[in-house]
Amino acid sequence: RRRVAVLVSGRGSNLGALIAAAAVADYPAEIALVLSNVPEAGGLVLARDHGIAAEVIDHRPFGRDRAAHEAAIDARLHEARIGFVCLAGYMRRLTPLLVDRWAGRMINIHPSLLPSFPGLDTHARALAAGVKIHGCTVHEVTAGVDEGPILGQAAIAVRPDDDAHSLAARVLEQEHRLYPAVLRRALEEGGERPQAEPLLSF
Ligand code: GAR
Repeated sequence: RRRVAVLVSGRGSNLGALIAAAAVADYPAEIALVLSNVPEAGGLVLARDHGIAAEVIDHRPFGRDRAAHEAAIDARLHEARIGFVCLAGYMRRLTPLLVDRWAGRMINIHPSLLPSFPGLDTHARALAAGVKIHGCTVHEVTAGVDEGPILGQAAIAVRPDDDAHSLAARVLEQEHRLYPAVLRRALEEGGERPQAEPLLSF
C-alpha cells in the first residue's frame, strides 16, 4: 500500500472520505500523514482521532517566502516516506518547488467541473452563470492553479431553487465519492489513464 499524505487547510471532510476508503483492506493507499498550514484545521483533529500523524506547518512564520514553506513541507513528506500526495481543501497556491518535485504524484480536488470555475466561490459563480450541470474534479497538480490534467469528474444537476449552500452540499457528497475512486485508480494505474466512466448523479 502506498503511503499517502493529505494536505488540508480546513474541515477535512474529503480527508475523512479518504480515511474511510483506506480502511478497506484492498484499498491501495494508507493515509500515513496529514499536514496543515492552519493550526486550527478540523482535519488535524479528524486525523488524530483515527490515529494518523497530523502536523502543522504554518505558513505565517515564513512570511512571503513560499519556497521555504514548501521546502519544509517537502522535507516532512520525505522524512515520512510518503509516495503520493492528495490536496484536500488545501487553500494555498503551490509554487513549482513542490509541484515539480511531486509531478505525477500529487492530485487535488476542486469543487467545479474544470475548466469552468477555477479559483474560489465556485458554487456562487456557477449559479450566477446559470449552468444546469455542476460538480467536482480531481486533477493532477501542475504549476497553473486548478489547471492540471483531469483524472475524474462527478456531476450533479442544478435545481431551480438551489443556492450556493445547497449546491455546495450536493457537490460535496460527490467529492466524497469521487476522490477515493480517483486516488485508487491513480495508484493502481500509475495515474496515466483517466477514469473509465464519469460519476453522474442526477
Ligand atoms: C472542498 O469542497 C474542496 O473541493 C475545496 O474545499 C473544500 C474543502 O472541504 N477545495 C478547493 O476549493 C481548492 N481550491 P473539506 O475540508 O471538508 O474537504
